[in-house]
Amino acid sequence: SKLVGLVGWRGMVGSVLMDRMTAEGDFAHIDPVFFSTSNAGGAAPAQAQSQRTLQDANDVAALARCDIIITCQGGDYTKAVYPQLRASGWRGHWIDAASALRMEPEAVIVLDPVNEGLIRQRLAAGGRDWIGGNCTNSILLMGLCGLFRADLVEWVSSMTYQAASGGGANHMRELLQGMGVCHAAVAADLANPASAILDIDRKVAQAIRDDVPREYFGAPLAGGLIPWIDAQLDNGQSKEEWKGQAEVNKILGTAQTIPVDGLCVRIGAMRCHSLALTLKLKHDLPLAEIEALIRGGNPWVKWVPNERPASVAELTPAAITGGLQVGVGRVRKLNMGPQYLSAFVIGDQLLWGAAEPLRRMLRILLA
Ligand code: HSE
Repeated sequence: SKLVGLVGWRGMVGSVLMDRMTAEGDFAHIDPVFFSTSNAGGAAPAQAQSQRTLQDANDVAALARCDIIITCQGGDYTKAVYPQLRASGWRGHWIDAASALRMEPEAVIVLDPVNEGLIRQRLAAGGRDWIGGNCTNSILLMGLCGLFRADLVEWVSSMTYQAASGGGANHMRELLQGMGVCHAAVAADLANPASAILDIDRKVAQAIRDDVPREYFGAPLAGGLIPWIDAQLDNGQSKEEWKGQAEVNKILGTAQTIPVDGLCVRIGAMRCHSLALTLKLKHDLPLAEIEALIRGGNPWVKWVPNERPASVAELTPAAITGGLQVGVGRVRKLNMGPQYLSAFVIGDQLLWGAAEPLRRMLRILLA
């Protein structure tokens, strides 16, 4: 079986990937080689077969023995190692969670329930670089690929509600610490039903301003939100916002660019990213047909009727977190006209947003 190098398997995305690969029996189809940037020579994990000790993830010759490499080690690692590996003549397949290579002309952004055709075309043409998409865009497309496939979408306005996990494990911890700080500031008052809510609010506001940790997010997130994600570009977009149009169109392989734009906002959810979308359709279509197209997009679409009880029960991080279903709901025609559609899409940022497309690409290469 194929020698598959795994790098960055111990981090958060890597751990989700390992769990999913174990659950799907992927290890039975490969000969895994576990690498480490910091602990070469240490013990290999239980999923290893013949391998006893971890290999050095910066050893280009060791990497070059692999037929396939999957990395969740991050963009700095990719930038440091990938060029050396290719320069050494290595012609294996590189599957990467990081964004570093995403927009390279040779690279395909992999999301096979949406773009399997493009993947297979590029594979047949000798493609060897398979990069996971930005989480928000992968979730958007998993939710609404039925509409894109029907060539119905003229443009998309995408307003996001992005979870702490998009920043990383430390960001999730910081969010929870902040929640604790808020609660601790008023725990005694809360326990007293006669306490005044405006006193409680004043103390919480002060705790958020002064005491909620902000080392990783750069601003207090608990009890609030942060209306900027990633670097600032010269055109007023954040880098996260820029990725929307660039990646959606690259994933779909559109001949004519579909405009995708909007604001990306960090909220205090743990690992579910949500998007509130406005779509302009190329032509008017009855809602029942729109629903059928969305439902038919892929087997992971969880259609939620645009009703209050279903929406609050099923279209939330509480309902979606930890699973592969992508919730799609709040679909209705907007006052702007019959071609204007709203939708709310929500998915687990670590699954379809990060790990799942990578292991599925591995299975495509093994088939
Ligand atoms: N950039 C995303 C976020 C996660 O910060 O939520 C990675 O796709």
